[in-house]
Amino acid sequence: MFSLYPAIRPLLFELDSERAHDWSLTGLDLCHRWMGPLLPPSAPCAFEGPTTVAGLVFPNRIGLAAGLDKNAEHLDALGRFGFGFMEAGTVTPRPQPGNAQPRMFRMQSADAIINRFGFNNLGLAQFIENLKASAWVRERRGILGLNIGKNASTPIDQATDDYLTCLEALYPWADYITINISSPNTQSLRGLQSAGSLTPLLHSLKTRQGLLTERLKRRVPLFLKVAPDLTDEQIDEIALAVNRAQIEGLIATNTTLARDQVEGLAHADEAGGLSGRPLFHQANHVLKRFREALDPEVALIGVGGILSDADGLQKRAAGADLLQVYTGLIYRGPRLVCDLAKALAVAQPG
Ligand SMILES: Cc1cc2nc3c(=O)[nH]c(=O)nc-3n(C[C@H](O)[C@H](O)[C@H](O)COP(=O)(O)O)c2cc1C
Repeated sequence: MFSLYPAIRPLLFELDSERAHDWSLTGLDLCHRWMGPLLPPSAPCAFEGPTTVAGLVFPNRIGLAAGLDKNAEHLDALGRFGFGFMEAGTVTPRPQPGNAQPRMFRMQSADAIINRFGFNNLGLAQFIENLKASAWVRERRGILGLNIGKNASTPIDQATDDYLTCLEALYPWADYITINISSPNTQSLRGLQSAGSLTPLLHSLKTRQGLLTERLKRRVPLFLKVAPDLTDEQIDEIALAVNRAQIEGLIATNTTLARDQVEGLAHADEAGGLSGRPLFHQANHVLKRFREALDPEVALIGVGGILSDADGLQKRAAGADLLQVYTGLIYRGPRLVCDLAKALAVAQPG
């Protein structure tokens, strides 16, 4: 089925980006529904044994990055790609439409995307209904990450309330929960990365995690997702806050506001976050710096610009325990997932 992607891609690329994105997911769901019963159950691709990271057993190191399945609606179909883990969201407490369209732009010659979706999502209640309906989730065919954010209408000084609401509601469903404070498309959100805001936020979340662990007899690790647009000093400050709060993992990185790598290309001046190949080196720099500054037990998930086996290996060498992909899927197709899992296994047998 996946070998069809090179044939379908030119057709999809004729469409407006967001429409292509929606149609692809609808098409995948239909294929899964019609052909699924004829195929073996979807399973993570396995070229090496499982890996334990942050106390969780990952069937392989390749994950779906947040934002592709914002409402956890397509996990069964996406599970067919062979991911070891998938991250759904970003979800906010209440539904919200996000920014006006157009809000997603392909930059084909650069293997890149600019998006300014702005956390469009159906809200927590529907998100949980969708999780309940998913066989992949029920049968835990891989590790499930749930990515949480704040509503655009929530004042930034009350952001903690939104994160706590999401944490409380999703804790029973998640294997890990990602605190997303790094989208460039929600006003002031990235300000939460400053030490003065981050320390109290992490403290509140860790306290609630402790209470939930006791209540549900299960510890769900917290991962923090950061931006690539950070100075080395900011990275060190965030790392200190993460170490002190004993946050279990860090995801580096979200999309960038930088445009130096795409200067002169069509859409380069669109507002939003840039992802894909032009983000790769910047995200790797941030990842390496975090690896040096974080306590060794803090897990690192490397994301940003992975489009090939070599990129995956470089991300691992920069310090990533696990990898995530988004834009690479759009340009390289679903085969990227198992190709990456295989490349990592061959490079590091056992
Ligand atoms: C269209 C689009 C929507 C995204 N939405 C989210 C989101 O809702 N939450 C989030 O944490 N990251 C979101 N991201 C960021 C990705 O998860 C990832 O961190 C980033 O794109 C870099 O990886 P890539 O180069 O493999 O795409 C989004 C990215 C894209 C391209």
